[in-house]
Amino acid sequence: MLTQRLGQTGLSVSQLGFGCGSMGGLLVRGDYPTMRQVVARAIDLGTTYFDTAPLYGNGQSEVNLGAVLRELQADVVVGTKVRLTTEEMDDIEGAVFRSVDASLRRLGRDSIDLLQLHNRFGPDTVPERRTLDLPDLAIVAGTFQALQRQGKIRAWGLTGLGTTEAIQAAIASRAFQSIQVPYNLLNPSAGMAVPDGFPFQDYGQAIDRAGQQGMGVIAIRILAGGALAGTPERHPIAARTVDPIASSADYQADVARAQRFGFLMDEGIVENLVEAAIRFVISQPHVSTALLGISSGEQLEAAVRYVERGPLPADALARIGEMQTA
Ligand SMILES: NC(=O)c1ccc[n+]([C@@H]2O[C@H](COP(=O)([O-])OP(=O)(O)OC[C@H]3O[C@@H](n4cnc5c(N)ncnc54)[C@H](OP(=O)(O)O)[C@@H]3O)[C@@H](O)[C@H]2O)c1
Repeated sequence: MLTQRLGQTGLSVSQLGFGCGSMGGLLVRGDYPTMRQVVARAIDLGTTYFDTAPLYGNGQSEVNLGAVLRELQADVVVGTKVRLTTEEMDDIEGAVFRSVDASLRRLGRDSIDLLQLHNRFGPDTVPERRTLDLPDLAIVAGTFQALQRQGKIRAWGLTGLGTTEAIQAAIASRAFQSIQVPYNLLNPSAGMAVPDGFPFQDYGQAIDRAGQQGMGVIAIRILAGGALAGTPERHPIAARTVDPIASSADYQADVARAQRFGFLMDEGIVENLVEAAIRFVISQPHVSTALLGISSGEQLEAAVRYVERGPLPADALARIGEMQTA
């Protein structure tokens, strides 16, 4: 699998990144031998980026990932996050320091390769929704820089969830080195222009804006939480319910909308919708790594096989664009 620079962070990440969250669930609800086996296989296949967070399994994902990587003596890039609670909003700096120390203990590491803000942000601070405003983001970025000087983190980024205007302002501030952005077949607006009336949040080409100024871009929700597999069934250890991010009002509606890309299978361009979804994301030139929520070794193997087939052909991308905005 190809690896690419994560913007100007100095980190190098595989085209497909390993999501250790609750959605796929392997690092949260899997059994330890299976986790170890699938992570080892992912590394064999060239995966170099693993994405976790204190929120995932209430710390369990960090504990499991740390234990597996230590056992494998793996030299990979580990990203985790900090999510401020309602009560922590008036002591951002202290909360970030405490969160990082707790993450380091759970991961069993001396430093974190990539620390990312997990909170949403917008025009105003809304403590009860754990939403930050732009001055809060500046405090977060300053604290992340202090952590880098202390050697506790190597690079830092944020999650691009919130109002489009705030996301654009955060990118333009150049205060963060990477950004996680929702990007998939259902809502491609972070990576291409969409017309007025597009039914979901228009991310205003956040990926291009970030990439053009040297930020590392991490695509999330590349399978819309699983809806882009095209069936409502969930893997036994995957999250039971999915709240769509930036797509339809509910999961069933996302599954239904996914069917409009069936022509790619009918014409033999791809094997299935998952292949279409993954290759669509890696076709965006500014995406450094596409994060996949993984439930099993089979899902990993299939995804890597699809990535190795490369970006989709230009004519297929053009027709996908028509279906996305129709
Ligand atoms: N910063 C943030 O706020 C944020 C938000 C979301 C995600 N993330 C990151 O992104 C990672 C990925 O999570 P996501 O929410 O974006 O989910 P996703 O990758 O869009 O979807 C994951 C789901 O896709 C299905 N799947 C995966 N591989 C498959 C395959 N080969 N064939 C068929 N189905 C497959 C599984 O569902 P089935 O049950 O249908 O098999 C799995 O639960 C997370 O672990 C996290 O690291 C970050």
